Amino acid sequence: MTESPATKQANGEVCQPPKNGLKPESNGFTGSLHRISKRPTNRRCQADEEEIACQHDGLYNRPFKEYFEETPMLVAVLTYIGYAILTIFGYLRDFLRHWKIEQCHIAREKEEQKDFVPLYQDFENFYTRNLYMRIRDNWNRPICSVPGAKMDLMDRTSHDYNWTFEYTGRTVKDVINLGSYNYLGFAENTGPCADSAAQVVRTYGIGVASTRQEIGNLDKHEEMEKQVAKFLGVESAMAFGMGFATNSMNIPALVGKGCLILSDELNHTSLVLGARLSGATIRVFKHNNMQCLEKLLSEAIVYGQPRTHRPWKKILIVVEGIYSMEGSIVRLPEVVALKKRYKAYLYLDEAHSIGALGHRGRGVVDYFDLDPCDVDVLMGTFTKSFGAAGGYIAGKRELIKYLRSHSHSAVYAASMSPPVVEQIITSMKCIMGDDGTLIGCKRLQQLAENTTYFRSRLREMGFIIYGNDDSPVIPMMLYMPAKIGAFGREMLKKNIGVVVVGFPATSIIESRARFCISAAHSKEILDKALSAISEVGDLLQLKYSRRRTQHAPLAQLFDENMFEDIDD
Ligand SMILES: Cc1ncc(COP(=O)(O)O)c(C=O)c1O
Repeated sequence: MTESPATKQANGEVCQPPKNGLKPESNGFTGSLHRISKRPTNRRCQADEEEIACQHDGLYNRPFKEYFEETPMLVAVLTYIGYAILTIFGYLRDFLRHWKIEQCHIAREKEEQKDFVPLYQDFENFYTRNLYMRIRDNWNRPICSVPGAKMDLMDRTSHDYNWTFEYTGRTVKDVINLGSYNYLGFAENTGPCADSAAQVVRTYGIGVASTRQEIGNLDKHEEMEKQVAKFLGVESAMAFGMGFATNSMNIPALVGKGCLILSDELNHTSLVLGARLSGATIRVFKHNNMQCLEKLLSEAIVYGQPRTHRPWKKILIVVEGIYSMEGSIVRLPEVVALKKRYKAYLYLDEAHSIGALGHRGRGVVDYFDLDPCDVDVLMGTFTKSFGAAGGYIAGKRELIKYLRSHSHSAVYAASMSPPVVEQIITSMKCIMGDDGTLIGCKRLQQLAENTTYFRSRLREMGFIIYGNDDSPVIPMMLYMPAKIGAFGREMLKKNIGVVVVGFPATSIIESRARFCISAAHSKEILDKALSAISEVGDLLQLKYSRRRTQHAPLAQLFDENMFEDIDD
């Protein structure tokens, strides 16, 4: 229902289907919280209500806390009833449209093709016109400012029940932005990054008008790639103009027919597309479920390819750092251990985790204190923490050399715009402290504190929050279809912009709001947002949690002094 996640989908046969649409635990059973994998060597730590995945064969350097509270039974039943009512009304309205009693705005087959099998009629189309249209005003609203901690929105209205919109000419000013992936606050129009990007425009202009292999290879591109490799602690890196294409065009360059891809069921659609385009066999394991992954790996080794039973040419495990719909963090130490044990390759997409995780902002590898060389293909995007555009692949020198000549997006796409490249270089330098300031370091700390504060406050209020304690992506469960639109609208009335998400981006009963926390959010902004969420939560009865946590002393969650320096 929203932008990218709308197409997040399983891409093949899932190892074990989740029961009742409820979240699986990591051990493959359905339950209220993520627990550690159920192996004989595991220990299970318990602290009050929450369960904590702790040292797993000594692989983890820190407690790994993830929450996936079970959907309350009554809420699940009411949600299904809500969808059933909407579906019945949908069919009724389609009937009225068919007999031209109700005006029909949908794409329809031409009159002369009316004997053909309908081109536009499928369930997604039915869903779009009868369910999504009712709440469409919550999406695609143009913003007319920098997507910082606050933003300006263009006011619009619809006279035909959301089929079309008209702009009123007014702007809604200073809307608190809880939706942009601006984790470190580098999406800004002032400060050193914006200044040096503007300076670069004066030297290089905006467009490059050629590919890297022809005459579109600037010294700035070379500088950026060296910087990315240094930042990640690997031998080499290369950059692409689009994060989505980085995945979808590079996976086919690495694997093909006779290869096996083991893909997490919640992988981003760019990974799914890349896997499909590659022609490799795809097997899907349950989200972050190491038992399921190990089972697939051992089966792949024992049985080889179907029918011939020849060994797979290559096995590639594909995972993400932070899963943007669940707010969960990949169990990377276990994935690395498995990949080593079974001699498979690992492709890690750090789109949301790079810059947002780890004490040095180097992503999930840094977060778990792992060696970046343990990941064969490190992928990430510049669209989130760096406030720029594009994506990268990093790893061994040979890998990058190979991709430079084999990847479609490297060979055929025009190279990145110079000011975008400069934004990446300067923001990365900031994070590394190479600019001679503490700005980057403070922002990393600020993001971590804001995340802890926001998550704990929401949990105390009684909302069901998904994901890892350290993830700045915070999904808050809404469940019922009517509440998706109502929550978005009520929040906007209070001048707070949020992203709401429903089917098909989530399972049918797991609609949610997804907050993205930024280092640019001040305590005042977070408190204002939290009190609005609480009020709307009471109004719409969203405080579903049966595990409401106690109010922790403020100082424990939030260091007030941190906010003072963020703007310097
Ligand atoms: C995990 C993941 N990979 C890749 C992408 C695509 O990146 P971009 O939006 O920079 O094209 C996204 C986008 O959100 C993502 O979440």
